[in-house]
Amino acid sequence: MQYADLLIETHGRVAVIRLNRPKAMNALNDNMMNELGAALQQFDADANIGCIVLAGSEKAFAAGADIAAMANYTYADTYPGNYIGRNWEHILNIRKPVIGAVAGFCLGGGCELAMMCDFLIAADSARFGQPEIKVGVTPGAGGTQRLPRTIGKAKAMDLLLTARMIDAAEAERTGLVSRVVPADKLMEEALAAATVVASMSVTVAMAIKDSVNRAFETTLTEGVRYERRYFHAAFGTPAQKEGMSAFLAKRPANFDGL
Ligand code: CAA
Repeated sequence: MQYADLLIETHGRVAVIRLNRPKAMNALNDNMMNELGAALQQFDADANIGCIVLAGSEKAFAAGADIAAMANYTYADTYPGNYIGRNWEHILNIRKPVIGAVAGFCLGGGCELAMMCDFLIAADSARFGQPEIKVGVTPGAGGTQRLPRTIGKAKAMDLLLTARMIDAAEAERTGLVSRVVPADKLMEEALAAATVVASMSVTVAMAIKDSVNRAFETTLTEGVRYERRYFHAAFGTPAQKEGMSAFLAKRPANFDGL
């Protein structure tokens, strides 16, 4: 499939999707979000892919929703047409792991999209922020919800109300990103991490992803019960047989296709 606003590559069992609107700092418009949904669904359904990397350019993961496209919107364009809701959240239904690789500006809707990834690896050049207040709107893709859950209320309020940006080091300290790497190594490191994930059982990786996400939607007791069901079910999978027999035989496990 051909995409106008994305660049797509595969490396073994890893798919890389790059947001690609260089003239607009990868500002997220309808076409790009439609394409992103389609590309993610394509790879989620592809048995040869075990992990997806979502990246932008060296300058910007994404500088937010496309302000030029929405500047003249009225309420009638947003609410009945379900702006954002109609095509930004396909990523939440992707069952395979999605690693965000962030360099440069990651702002507004860009930061919100990044927070919908399973974990983030940041270049030391990355800058994160929710500057929507500066353009007279609230965040619209989960910024007021995922940011406090990720970095805590104080930092989230600070970013959301002052519109200040944080650098990669502060993003790592606050738990927004899992690792920071030199900018020129970002894609190499993200691919290496994704290759490790893709070498595991995709069934088990999906179950872990689903269980972790459940933690944000339910109580601790219910969440642990949910996890326990997956743990018990794992004993009905070839992955458990292969993983444990490989350990006992002191050989590497081969989870290919499991
Ligand atoms: N939408 C549309 N175009 C954008 C954009 C955006 N979010 N961000 C940058 N661009 C465009 C600029 O208009 C500019 O285009 P031209 O060359 O045609 O003038 C080009 O990208 C380069 O940008 P700058 O010249 O501004 O580059 P800079 O290095 O001086 O600044 C920046 C970079 C700090 C990212 C600055 O562009 C900026 O502040 N962008 C807007 C960030 C923002 O407010 N994001 C939130 C949007 S609202 C939102 O996302 C809603 C939501 O929650 C869903």
